[in-house]
Amino acid sequence: MFFKIMTSKIDTNLMDKIVSLCKRRGFVFSGSEIYGGLQGFYDFGPLGVEMKNNLKKLWWDWMTKKHESIVGLDGAIITNPKVWEASGHLKSFVDPLVECKKCHHRFKGDEVISGKCPDCGGELTEPRLFNTLVPTQLGVIEGEKTQAYLRGEACQTIYLDYKNVLNSTRLKIPFGICQIGKAFRNEVTPGNFLFRQREFEQWDLQWFCHPSEMDKWFEFWKSERLAWYQSLFTHPENLGFYQHEKLAHYAKKAYDIEYQASPIGKEMEGIHWRGDFDLSGHSNFSGQDLSYTDSETKEKFIPHIVETSGGVDRTFLFLLLDAYDEEEVKEGDVRTVLRLSPKIAPIKAAVFPLMKNKPELVAKAKEIYGNLKNDFRCDFDDNGNIGKRYRRQDEIGTPYCLTVDFDTLDNDTVTVRDRDSMEQERVEVKNLKSYLTEKIC
Ligand code: GAP
Repeated sequence: MFFKIMTSKIDTNLMDKIVSLCKRRGFVFSGSEIYGGLQGFYDFGPLGVEMKNNLKKLWWDWMTKKHESIVGLDGAIITNPKVWEASGHLKSFVDPLVECKKCHHRFKGDEVISGKCPDCGGELTEPRLFNTLVPTQLGVIEGEKTQAYLRGEACQTIYLDYKNVLNSTRLKIPFGICQIGKAFRNEVTPGNFLFRQREFEQWDLQWFCHPSEMDKWFEFWKSERLAWYQSLFTHPENLGFYQHEKLAHYAKKAYDIEYQASPIGKEMEGIHWRGDFDLSGHSNFSGQDLSYTDSETKEKFIPHIVETSGGVDRTFLFLLLDAYDEEEVKEGDVRTVLRLSPKIAPIKAAVFPLMKNKPELVAKAKEIYGNLKNDFRCDFDDNGNIGKRYRRQDEIGTPYCLTVDFDTLDNDTVTVRDRDSMEQERVEVKNLKSYLTEKIC
């Protein structure tokens, strides 16, 4: 008989457990750890980079394969500094601001009446001159260096290249340009692990459309993006929308897709009605005509934009929080299991010889591992007893464990053990690739 404990999703220890698991098993390390670290910077370890790459590939394929009129871009991190004047970031971020230590919303002095955060009542930081853009200098001669900025949001290069994309493709409005890339922010209060970093990755779609169709597309992308996240989370019911009342300088309407069971902040992706703010701004500052002419109606207009801008690292963190479970398999014996979608799991299958000291089992297991490893990220493990090997794989979310035993030598079948149900079935070695493809892809 199995006793189940579903870990409470508002478990305050949950973050500590995730941070510890991430370090112990090689998902995420603190940046520059041997020098005492650097607040707001993290490195993704061997398992973390596999999981993050799986996630980014899913996003990229969903954007560019599922949706015919979306193309990709990989823009530079440093742009002409005028970009940040045109975008409003230089102007918007040099005011003295206070930041709420709890919800991280920022307010100008006259917006705070009671000395507490107007949104959640939290404690506020001292007022300070705020510029979240991370400055850098270009050039080698002291005194002649040019001030530039690491991009504060990844999307700006999409606006800069929108005409280049139009001129080099056969796209017509409505169409989208998507990008995954690093962004940098001098956050006043970096913290909560990957949630608020100074260097992080964003996945953005900028959808260019006729102004009269903004309502339709805004609603379309809101529901498309929520459905995409729901397809990946272990508990999709934990996802939902938050409607912003206080809007960023560029937004006319904004919703967040939230991970609502989060013990820390909830925001994962912003769906923003950017209108013509960006293209008009860049058109004015650069002197370039960024309008679009409809080839059929000959109407000339500045396209309006719906943006979906999500955090890769936050999604990564929320997926771990959502997938983490502790399950009592028999009295007093609890296993830790990451119930990650097999599509995201860093290792898809682990291959074990039942016994390490039986060369014929080890050779057969290595042969199977060798045949699978080019198609699936696999692990080979002959260390410790089978129970311990299962536990090691459960803890990192490996969906399938394949064990080679003496029957394998007779009938060329292996035991396949399912991570979530712990049920086992025999599968013919010759069918393993198609079995795993069907279950994982
Ligand atoms: N281009 C619009 C834009 O950048 P945003 O709401 O400031 O909008 C989009 O950022 C997403 O980027 C957020 O929903 C969040 O997931 C992620 N993000 C923002 N700041 C972050 C930080 N300091 N650390 C980690 N992720 C962050």
